[in-house]
Amino acid sequence: MNPSSFQGHIPAPGTFGEVIWSSPSNIALTKYWGKHGHQLPRNASVSFTLSEAKTITKVKFEFVQRMDDVHVDFWFEGEEKPDFADRIVQFFKRNESSFPYLKYVKWSISSKNTFPHSSGIASSASAMSCLVMAVVDIERRFMSFDMTDEEAMKRVSFLSRLASGSACRSVYPLAAEWGENPQIEDSSDLYAISFAKELHEVFRNYHDDILIVSDTEKQVSSSAGHQLMEDNPFAAVRFQQANDNTVRMMEVLRTGDLTSFVEIVESEALTLHALMMTSQPSYVLMRPDTLSVIEKVRAFREKTEIPIAFTLDAGPNVHLLYPDAHADQCRAFIQTECVDKGLGRLISDHVGFGPERLSSFE
Ligand code: PMV
Repeated sequence: MNPSSFQGHIPAPGTFGEVIWSSPSNIALTKYWGKHGHQLPRNASVSFTLSEAKTITKVKFEFVQRMDDVHVDFWFEGEEKPDFADRIVQFFKRNESSFPYLKYVKWSISSKNTFPHSSGIASSASAMSCLVMAVVDIERRFMSFDMTDEEAMKRVSFLSRLASGSACRSVYPLAAEWGENPQIEDSSDLYAISFAKELHEVFRNYHDDILIVSDTEKQVSSSAGHQLMEDNPFAAVRFQQANDNTVRMMEVLRTGDLTSFVEIVESEALTLHALMMTSQPSYVLMRPDTLSVIEKVRAFREKTEIPIAFTLDAGPNVHLLYPDAHADQCRAFIQTECVDKGLGRLISDHVGFGPERLSSFE
């Protein structure tokens, strides 16, 4: 089945209903940075799906006689947000060939996040994967669009990618890979693939403690950041390196080799920031406290031989990744050496199981 094409039926006017879904954020272990065409990645990437940091979205729909335009009302955390509604309308309209029923349905969408606003956690991955998950569920249950679960997930991942690149990786449990690479079977630029089956035991309950070093607005949007890669002098070498690191990381995720995990994860994070520093204009997205945390993590690892690693998104906040077997010592270190020293607020998360259908929005 082509994940972009709709093969259902538009129900009679008056048909209505609602679905509620949650979908998590994800943390990239190897980084997608640079895109082209219609949200296509310049390199492959692989991520852990998170659990606690998620969006919950209720989508109400009512089928009507054909309208002249796409109709979306949108509430975020109880407040009507016409600008968010516009973004969803733009996404729908840009991809109208995948949603040929849009002018026959009125959407009323309510959404909220489990993590604080501007906490530096990428909300677009959870928000967009959640919305698309709900819409595809409506297609299956109310528009007689017959798909296997696997086909449905491919469609959700494909459409989530069009809404917000890395959102395509959030739809699968545990871990996901996105980006075509001849060494990765079934890999595609168009959608992510699940890596759950092959994931080594040690990673299935891996921790991701997020230290919010700063929650001020992003200095540079991720779209603008991706764009800067087009003229970055290191772009070609970087795309090759990211592809190689993704292949290596997938092997690490299979074998549970934590030494290589730490090495690749930290190198990917620092490289992402190095790319921003060497773009024109250039950006320094780390804060002094980001560096303090990094130094402390490395010193703690050296002293204890516990394989805790840091990673960063395109911002100052630090994700601390560690195995459950060392949870007590890592938590104590993070609390006393980082949080109590004023280096950041803590949001504790861990690897999780992906989107979930809920029966209540509360
Ligand atoms: O999905 P976007 O366009 O917000 O880009 C995400 C980029 C990084 O978070 C920095 C890396 C990644 O692979 O998630």
